[in-house]
Amino acid sequence: MTDASGTPTFFDTLLDRTIVPGYSRLGFRFRRRGWPADDPQSDAMHGRTALVTGSNSGIGKAIAAGLAGLGGSVILAVRDRERGEQACREIRAADPAADVSVTVCDLSDPGSVAACADELSERLSRLDVLIHNAGLLPPRRIETADGHELTLATHVLGPLLLTDRLVPLLDAADGSRVILMSSGGMYAQRLAVDDPEYRQGRYSGTTAYARTKRMQVAFTPLLAEHYAPQGISVHSMHPGWADTPGVITSLPAFHRLMRPLLRTPEEGADTAIWLAATSATLPSGRFWHDRRVRPEHYLRRTHYTADEAWRLWLFCREAAGLAVG
Ligand SMILES: NC(=O)c1ccc[n+]([C@@H]2O[C@H](COP(=O)([O-])OP(=O)(O)OC[C@H]3O[C@@H](n4cnc5c(N)ncnc54)[C@H](OP(=O)(O)O)[C@@H]3O)[C@@H](O)[C@H]2O)c1
Repeated sequence: MTDASGTPTFFDTLLDRTIVPGYSRLGFRFRRRGWPADDPQSDAMHGRTALVTGSNSGIGKAIAAGLAGLGGSVILAVRDRERGEQACREIRAADPAADVSVTVCDLSDPGSVAACADELSERLSRLDVLIHNAGLLPPRRIETADGHELTLATHVLGPLLLTDRLVPLLDAADGSRVILMSSGGMYAQRLAVDDPEYRQGRYSGTTAYARTKRMQVAFTPLLAEHYAPQGISVHSMHPGWADTPGVITSLPAFHRLMRPLLRTPEEGADTAIWLAATSATLPSGRFWHDRRVRPEHYLRRTHYTADEAWRLWLFCREAAGLAVG
């Protein structure tokens, strides 16, 4: 599967470029054959704490269960406490030793993000892993109470703010990791530098989703550089196509067509769990899929300049209420 340097082989790369086989369960099951059985080790998260946003269902819940299964203390950051508690009960029913708990955090609401960060600062002495998994694909253009387009607020502004507010806890951990759950859909989108709030043209939820997932990938190296002095590494990834409540609700036709080929939520969660728990030294600031660094572009038209990325970074930091720079 991989050569000695960890570079994907011809067949792995072919799976990636042909998309359907690579993103489906076929790609996962093919690539898995090349992974060492003992990485991450069964107690890799022992003594470590992880926060997973949007973890009451789908991939996020599978990530939370997976990290708890490796001995971690896992906090489910959810926007509805009861749905979070229900997810904890289900995780514990499958694994009575699972150390899981809930905090309330609506990523689209800066007040909720700040309150969550305050609560965690009281509750924890350090945070080893922060996984920005919360995501949605809205049916129409929706603005948050403070006037931001909903996918921008949820996928970009909320994660920027939450990461920033949790820096003291991340700094207190040794080699902490921040992981952004992007999507392969971002490959079709340029960086929306001139219209980040999607005010121009006919709104499409799918495009808004993919544009903001592109922003997550574009910001990964900037976040990596920004937080390198605190020893925090930053990684983005895409999970392939997994059968989750989000896909059933937001993309019903895709779900009907692709269902036999979709990954399980656990398969979609695999790379996030691996990025969080592997003992391997990971290069910060890169984009991953199925435990390998992947290209950030397939298409020439999606390339952007460092200046464009920086301009959008400044806009988003300001929109998130953070110091610009
Ligand atoms: N499934 C796939 O094939 C696929 C492919 C590419 C990328 N992804 C990404 O993987 C992540 C998980 O998606 P999924 O497929 O597992 O979908 P899902 O089952 O719908 O899970 C999404 C989670 O995000 C939560 N969420 C949405 N908005 C939130 C907010 N403002 N604050 C806090 N939590 C919020 C949802 O909570 P509620 O239950 O309260 O709505 C839910 O728990 C997403 O980022 C998605 O974009 C998935």
